[in-house]
Amino acid sequence: NAVPADAKNLRVKLVLLGDSGVGKSCIVLRFVRGQFDATSKVTVGASFLSQTIALQDSTTVKFEIWDTAGQERYSALAPLYYRGAGVAVIVYDITSPESFKKAQYWVKELQKHGSPDIVMALVGNKADLHEKREVPTEDGMELAEKNGMFFIETSAKTADNINQLFEEIGKRLP
Ligand code: GTP
Ligand code: MG
Repeated sequence: NAVPADAKNLRVKLVLLGDSGVGKSCIVLRFVRGQFDATSKVTVGASFLSQTIALQDSTTVKFEIWDTAGQERYSALAPLYYRGAGVAVIVYDITSPESFKKAQYWVKELQKHGSPDIVMALVGNKADLHEKREVPTEDGMELAEKNGMFFIETSAKTADNINQLFEEIGKRLP
């Protein structure tokens, strides 16, 4: 099994940001362990997990994932996690316009204080709850497009687009 001469092994620090309850921890749990927890507890401070994937061109990407706490009381900690991050994933809940507002806040905050070459993704999670949708897909697309971000809607519950999210980020790494 020859390894192509151009094989690359990348390692990147990824931070997840977004309102409490949007499903950040569930996205990570789905991606890393293939599980879903309907009784997921709020994150305190932040939690760390890593996962390595192979892209189609045999590049491997090790994601060092900082899953931050979305509750307001922890917001002052966020810079500790997004500083030096190569990737920021900003998550909102498609059933919650408030969480979409918060996502817009995080986009601005990262543009002001994040590293200039950070890869940013916007994620509309809980896409399985389409009957309760309050944030149109187009609104997410527009916010992402304006800010040069990759956009995707996911469901940590059904696993829809979770692996795709990380693969697409992997492809966009410098
Ligand atoms: P903080 O840690 O407080 O910032 O919240 P969080 O963003 O990590 O939210 P968490 O992952 O803990 O999920 C919150 C709730 O949403 C839990 O009850 C999950 O079961 C539920 N949830 C997460 N993802 C989905 C999803 O894709 N679909 C549905 N229907 N529920 C989800
Ligand atoms: Mg959490």
